Amino acid sequence: MVGYAFMGEAHSQAWRTVNRVYDLPVHARMSLVAGRDKANVAAAADCLGWEAHTTDWRELVTREDIDLVDICTPGDSHAEIALAALAAGKHVLCEKPLANTVEEARAMTAAADAARAHGVRAMCGFTYRRVPAVTFMRRLIADGRLGELRHVRAVYLQDWITDPEFPLVWRLQKDKAGSGALGDIGAHIIDMTQFVTGQKITGVSGLTETFVSERPLPSGDGALGAATSSSVDKGPVTVDDAALFVARLSGGAVATFEATRMATGRKNGLRIEINGSKGSLAFDLERLNELEFYDATLPGTELGFRRILVTEPEHPYLSAWWPTGHLIGYEHSFTHQARDLLEAIGEGTDPLPSFADALGVQLVLDAVEQSSASAAWVPVEQP
Ligand SMILES: NC(=O)c1ccc[n+]([C@@H]2O[C@H](COP(=O)([O-])OP(=O)(O)OC[C@H]3O[C@@H](n4cnc5c(N)ncnc54)[C@H](O)[C@@H]3O)[C@@H](O)[C@H]2O)c1
Repeated sequence: MVGYAFMGEAHSQAWRTVNRVYDLPVHARMSLVAGRDKANVAAAADCLGWEAHTTDWRELVTREDIDLVDICTPGDSHAEIALAALAAGKHVLCEKPLANTVEEARAMTAAADAARAHGVRAMCGFTYRRVPAVTFMRRLIADGRLGELRHVRAVYLQDWITDPEFPLVWRLQKDKAGSGALGDIGAHIIDMTQFVTGQKITGVSGLTETFVSERPLPSGDGALGAATSSSVDKGPVTVDDAALFVARLSGGAVATFEATRMATGRKNGLRIEINGSKGSLAFDLERLNELEFYDATLPGTELGFRRILVTEPEHPYLSAWWPTGHLIGYEHSFTHQARDLLEAIGEGTDPLPSFADALGVQLVLDAVEQSSASAAWVPVEQP
């Protein structure tokens, strides 16, 4: 694994847990973690349960006993690490968004396609697909329970940069992050929409805004957990603070999206609602064990949104966890991701979302930026 902060910790927990919960054809061994700072990576290896540590990620690629490289770094290093790992015949799990540019995402997708011919697997970390209520939502829609889809309403609202004195962490720098709220959290609701509806976004009209144009320089490497700054020196914010767009979907539905890290009071407010001719479904990440379902085929006297507690063993991923009604949390989706990847590797199948799926998200991000710059409707190229 490369990178050991927020996602590195979440992925480590998943690698530690996955084979204890699920019966899988292959077993994860946490061989080597890479980072840039020797003392910090050593401490992380010890804390997170890795056998060894290195300050050179290339060691992951050259060591013969390593089969899978898990990329948990900011977007500016995804392409270089993934391309090297795939070329060396390693399976790759790469965090989202896949890359910082469409060009990088295309190169990564081409490399993943070439590697597949040799049995090498590549997957992108859009983890929210693996929240059981979200996977179940997809199943209900695929079974036709909503009929013809008409509206998607998707928002991802956070508030951690509301204070203008919050430092200029890597997520606020275009060369490191690619884009701001758009790629960081907007990418999740783009993937979730395409995943649950089974439809592709075909065109967008968007706008982006940066409310705070300069921020104090951060201490350390600008990782979120170490973001404190008392610096009087400031640097420019080079990404969007908020991104809004409307879209058309390939099956005829229309959609609205809002991604912002300036929604005061909203901590991790990812919500999606889908309205179809026969019903509606709504999901809220802050209540992730629940799904709201309105079944318009019921008699008029029984109509109304009902809350489904998605904790039954028949619900996706849940038979291996706790008894009915005993809730799961944020970290479980990472274990589900590790499960799906190990199963695919063991069975020789392609894990989803593929790099091509993630390139599809990248093309939407790019179209929103183009639309915002030109104030025009922009068709989305399909990967
Ligand atoms: N799937 C999700 O829900 C989710 C959630 C958060 C972040 N992410 C994605 O995960 C990735 C990492 O984000 P994070 O929140 O963990 O960031 P973070 O700042 O918490 O951690 C980044 C880590 O990468 C290391 N790093 C940075 N550049 C490096 C380099 N060139 N070589 C080696 N190590 C390097 C840092 O030292 C740190 O350990 C990003 O792509 C982000 O978009 C995904």
